[in-house]
This record gives sequence, C-alpha cells and structure tokens, in this order.
Amino acid sequence: MPSLESTLLQSWHNNAHAWIEVIRSGAIESRQQVTDQAIVLAIMGRQPQRVLDLGCGEGWLLRALVDRGIEATGVDGDATLVEAARLAGASQAHVASYEALVEATVDIGRDYDLICANFSLLQQDIIPLLAAMNALLVPGGALVIQTLHPWAVAAGDYQDGWREETFAGFKGQWQPMPWYFRTLSSWINALDMAGFELAGLQEPQHPQSPVPQSLLLVAERC
Ligand SMILES: C[S@@+](CC[C@H](N)C(=O)[O-])C[C@H]1O[C@@H](n2cnc3c(N)ncnc32)[C@H](O)[C@@H]1O
Repeated sequence: MPSLESTLLQSWHNNAHAWIEVIRSGAIESRQQVTDQAIVLAIMGRQPQRVLDLGCGEGWLLRALVDRGIEATGVDGDATLVEAARLAGASQAHVASYEALVEATVDIGRDYDLICANFSLLQQDIIPLLAAMNALLVPGGALVIQTLHPWAVAAGDYQDGWREETFAGFKGQWQPMPWYFRTLSSWINALDMAGFELAGLQEPQHPQSPVPQSLLLVAERC
C-alpha cells in the first residue's frame, strides 16, 4: 500500500495539466480576489532580495516576484509543473520532492532571505521539511506560509488528520488528493519545533465573505 504522502505527490503528477489550466485561466476566485495578493504583499513587506518558493507549482508566484525585482527560485516535486514554470520565464526552478529536500540530496541554493509556501504544505510530517528550510535561510530570515484556514475548512471536525480533496467543481480530469488537515495550534507548534518564531498571523478575507479565505503565517528563524 503506498503511503498517503506518496499518493499526495502522485496526485500532482496526475493533476499537473489540469492545475496549470486552472491557475492560468484564473478559475479560482479566492486566489483572484484575495489570496494571491495577500501572499505577494506579505513577502514584499519583508523586502527580501532572494526568495525560495517551496512547492512553486507552475510558477505564478515566481513570476510575480521576479516582476517586482526579486531573485526568486522555485522548487517542486512535479516535473511537469516545474517545466511549465521554466517555460513561462522562471529560469531558476528545481525538481525535487520534499523528502529529497529533507535528506538534502539536491542543491537548491541557500542563504535565502525568505522562503514562501503557498498552499503547498499538504502532508502530515512537515516539521523535518520546515527544519530543512530553516537551514537554508539567512540568520533572521523569514518563512511565509499561506494555507487553508483551518476554521473555514474544518467541516465540524477540528482535529489533525487526513482528508480528501476531490476537486469537485473544477473543470478537467482530476485525481482525488489526500491532504492533512492541521489545527491552528498544530501549525504554530510545527513552526516552533522547526526552530521558527511566529512573527505575524493574518486571515485574508473578502469583504463579502463570512469566512477567511486563508491563514497566512509569517515566522522568523530563531
Ligand atoms: C496546491 S499546489 C500549489 C502550487 C503553488 N504554490 C501555487 O500557489 O499555485 C501544491 C504544490 O505542492 C507540490 N507538492 C506537494 N507535495 C509535494 C512533495 N512531497 N514534494 C514536492 N512538492 C510537493 C505539488 O507538486 C504542487 O505543485
């Protein structure tokens, strides 16, 4: 039986083309209205020169950062997404699984001012990965995580555990994806265990929505 972690990454191999289409057509309203701008502003507010985008996908955030004069490097475990990022102008994009990053078997550069992860920390065991990212930051460097807001997606079951995303409502062919639901305290504990100190917490929201569109955590290397 494959682990849920490997099924998760496998789902991105299968869903890569559908994902590129969804992102590039602007089909996810919450991204267009709220969360894309929220993470760009959170990153720019730290005035970084060098940024690593962890789980960069097809690279929209890399392009947004490069357009703003930032040296941005991406890494993602799916080769199709990384190739799409490169073809769209992200010259520095690496293919590597999170497991490879934890084991440090690939060189993705170091001494980053900031590492961001936009809806890309979906697995259970994030502490070793965050600790590995900690080691790639300059002293005082920052980690910016945007993720699903746990209170908005708990669906009455507010405890850590695996869930399933079926991508219902998205156009195209999709394979369901297992993902790990994490409570707010679980996120904050994971940061602490990986050597980060919480420096900011935002709940980006659309004025016409009763729930936040995401949880945005800014943490500094201790
Ligand atoms: C929801 S997408 C987000 C992509 C991008 N950050 C964005 O904002 O559009 C999640 C990304 O995490 C990557 N990912 C998930 N699990 C991974 C793993 N174990 N190793 C490397 N990448 C992984 C996927 O390939 C996918 O590109």
